[in-house]
Amino acid sequence: MLVALLPGDGIGPEVIAEAVRVLDTLEIGGLVFEEAPVGGAAFKAVGHPLPEATLDLAKRADAILFGAVGDPDCDALERHLRPEQAILGLRAELGLYANLRPAATIPALADASALRADIAGNIDLMIVRELNGDVYFGEKGMRATDAGLRQGYDIMSYDEGEVRRIAKTGFETARARRGRLCSVDKANVLETSQLWRDVVTEISADYPDIELSHLYVDNAAMQLVKDPGQFDTIVTGNLFGDILSDLASMCTGSIGMLPSASLDEGGKGLYEPIHGSAPDIAGQGIANPLATILSAAMMLRYSLGLGDAAARIEKAVEVALAAGLRTADLGGKATTREAGDAVIAAL
Ligand code: NAD
Ligand code: IPM
Ligand code: MN
Repeated sequence: MLVALLPGDGIGPEVIAEAVRVLDTLEIGGLVFEEAPVGGAAFKAVGHPLPEATLDLAKRADAILFGAVGDPDCDALERHLRPEQAILGLRAELGLYANLRPAATIPALADASALRADIAGNIDLMIVRELNGDVYFGEKGMRATDAGLRQGYDIMSYDEGEVRRIAKTGFETARARRGRLCSVDKANVLETSQLWRDVVTEISADYPDIELSHLYVDNAAMQLVKDPGQFDTIVTGNLFGDILSDLASMCTGSIGMLPSASLDEGGKGLYEPIHGSAPDIAGQGIANPLATILSAAMMLRYSLGLGDAAARIEKAVEVALAAGLRTADLGGKATTREAGDAVIAAL
């Protein structure tokens, strides 16, 4: 089983190193790692954020463990050369259309949530975010208006096939959980969202056992803070899912805690924390590696058929936190390395 390691930029390499140490501790027979540069690191090394060799490795691998991309040095580059194009390119090239972003209460972290304990105590939700379409991948550019003003534009669109595909993932995900699916859109304003809502409603006929509801995205953001425990599975588009998942991370504790899986139609996946390269703390050795360690667990479960090993990692993270492990984002002083050590000790 070949795992592509793409550490990327900023804290990416720091958190990936800990995830690899945890995987090594499990001594899984036949697991082989191959590493390649991606993002700003790849641009600086070979002049492109997603070099041909890196894309080729990602295609050959059984699964991909990804750190983060993003480098302030690269923010003024032409868009196609910016680090973020690497992760967008991987998602598009590999057809990784279904992004699963789970968020659940960890009792030991009650003090880390931005919400009162009585509100944050019963969170167990899964955001199913569409990852191959929406305003992210439509025509975009800069042009001049008739009045000579600079105008930026990004076309938002979904076709019904794209919505049908992710809606099915949403319903199937809800079926494997508690049977409730909330579809989030902005159908009161956007045609893209009206189609989304129509198609999700059509598909619901095939899932009579699933309780479907709809929320506008602004209300959904409010409800996630007011009463996050009301949600089971949320299905939404690329942009709304991006925003709501960062929001959900602070309901449970920290953005340094939330993992994700990005899956294609055959079960191949890319696994990454939902956070970015955190340039403000990069190089200090204080980033929380748990989101990446938990992403490695998702990789074992979803792409490598090693659910037991995944559960062992998840349990070890829980035990380490219960024993008092806290990186800076959780209000503590543990370093990235010490956090890795604590999980390994718990294993
Ligand atoms: P960010 O997620 O990198 O950081 C937001 C805040 O959270 C920062 O204060 C950071 O220090 C903190 N943080 C994030 N991860 C943490 C961790 N593991 N431990 C402790 N603290 C953590 O978001 P940003 O600052 O908006 O973006 C920085 C760069 O990352 C940008 O270039 C952006 O495009 C990129 N980005 C990449 C990805 C990805 O690779 N998938 C995701 C999000 C952002
Ligand atoms: C994420 C990130 C990416 C996104 C960026 C870096 C392209 O924010 O994975 O959440 O917007 O999808
Ligand atoms: Mn994001």
